[in-house]
Amino acid sequence: MSGEIYLPLKLLHVLCAGITLLLFLWRSQMIFSERRMPRLWTRHIPDLIDTLLLSTGAAMLFVIGLSPLAGDWISIKLIMVVIYILLGMVVLHFGKTPVIRRLAWLGALMVFACIVWLAHFKEILPLAM
Ligand code: HEM
Repeated sequence: MSGEIYLPLKLLHVLCAGITLLLFLWRSQMIFSERRMPRLWTRHIPDLIDTLLLSTGAAMLFVIGLSPLAGDWISIKLIMVVIYILLGMVVLHFGKTPVIRRLAWLGALMVFACIVWLAHFKEILPLAM
């Protein structure tokens, strides 16, 4: 039973990861060009996608019995998810100047790439070098 649910969970998780990246790129572009967006796109839909992303991730951990505190790739990935969220908040809400927002944007994309890389290869060594 748990094996049957794993693949749909993973597909949904990867789909949400792609959508969350697209939404982030779009929202940050709107911020940089000082254009306004409807609240549905700045709050409700991103919140829904991020909740799905986190809960499918947590459900997969439960199904395979992997602890987020295992000290493995998953622990590093979760630390990076927190850094990604914080950088995203600087870009979208708290960055005081355009330069700070741009730098945080660059950092967020680099951290996002590391998250995907870690999720795919489950290998932390190159990040430690
Ligand atoms: C920005 C946030 C996240 C992104 C971009 C992301 C991205 C991904 C991607 C692309 C994969 C598929 C990797 C592959 O097989 O090629 C994946 C798998 C996975 N993710 Fe995430 N993820 C995120 C957050 C989370 C969180 C918060 C958790 C746990 C609470 C989590 C747990 C997992 C697990 C357990 C897998 C399955 C690995 C496997 O079976 O191969 N992810 N993630």
